[in-house]
Amino acid sequence: MRPNPPFDRARPEAHGALDLAELERRGVDPEEVVDFSASVNPCGPAPAVLEAARRADIACYPDRTCLGLRRTLARRLGLDVSWICPGNGSAELIDLLARLYLSPGDAALVVGPTFGEYGRASRLCGARVLRWDRGVRGGEVSLDLDGLAGAVLRERPRVVWLCSPNNPTGDLLPGTGVRRLLGAVEAAGGLLVVDEAYRDLVLRGEPDDLTGLLEGGRLVLLRSMTKAHALAGLRLGYALAPPEAVRALEVARPPWSVSAPAQAAGVAALSPAAEEHLLRSRRLLARSAALLAEGLSRLGLRFAPGAANFFLVEVGSGRGVREALLRRGLQVRDCASFGLPAHIRIAVRRPEENARLLAALGEVLP
Ligand SMILES: Cc1ncc(COP(=O)(O)O)c(C=O)c1O
Repeated sequence: MRPNPPFDRARPEAHGALDLAELERRGVDPEEVVDFSASVNPCGPAPAVLEAARRADIACYPDRTCLGLRRTLARRLGLDVSWICPGNGSAELIDLLARLYLSPGDAALVVGPTFGEYGRASRLCGARVLRWDRGVRGGEVSLDLDGLAGAVLRERPRVVWLCSPNNPTGDLLPGTGVRRLLGAVEAAGGLLVVDEAYRDLVLRGEPDDLTGLLEGGRLVLLRSMTKAHALAGLRLGYALAPPEAVRALEVARPPWSVSAPAQAAGVAALSPAAEEHLLRSRRLLARSAALLAEGLSRLGLRFAPGAANFFLVEVGSGRGVREALLRRGLQVRDCASFGLPAHIRIAVRRPEENARLLAALGEVLP
């Protein structure tokens, strides 16, 4: 039987990370591949986080309301628990938010080029997806905020999706910019979703705290714990949103979607020992990013000096360079699915791994 529209013609979005079927087709051993295509902390989870996940009782159902994790987050963020909704990765929360706020025929505006899930989730709700794109030229990324605010007032989208720092361009919109955009979204009667998945991996400057803007009731912040705390396989993220949105998210979320090990790992990730691990990881990544930038410049490449732990690099053919690197056991993200076929995205890894990538790039570039 045919699935209902629009599911019958929906296609999955392209993503980074290893695809075992692809590697099998190419005869590449996954154990031999260094993954620069997913921007996850290469130092791995803090020992305390691993230990907490191991100790979780997987024979019992997890707490459906994630109360322990929400209380720990609430203390850390200075918010009430009623403003916090964990999810099975922030990807689950993107999906749920679209279902909560978008009906067939509604407009959703995606500030692109960006993570593909905002568009996918919106389309699956029957929404019309509009795009307002940053300019991307070699190493220059520019967002015309006045133009974007004007488009919001004109098109009156129900939901505006903004990623900051943005995947794959790395640009971070300061609090003043978010406030300006939120003003337009409020005037247009919509909801602004700011995805801060890479917030804890900002290596240059400090991201502004946007939680003070939540009070107005038209903003949702999404945070991921899979990147900075290296829990991509465990899956954990959370939304910060007004209580009525959190209540609706909890109803829409399938029960037990946040596993017991994920909840335990999340609590441990907020402990002082794990915070120290993250701080050390960020220091290492900042040094490593500076060396990677120097190496890319030496190769004569143009790249966006993003705020977070990845670079968008212009290479001519993203697909060709990805394939040539994969043959050498290095996977990068071909950016064609973002509408940037001349670019690849490289996650910052440890200096010795980056050096290997730079050497391989030197061989494969025309
Ligand atoms: C911008 C952005 N948001 C959300 C996600 C999903 O993160 P999570 O692992 O928390 O589901 C990703 C993953 O690549 C991402 O790049």
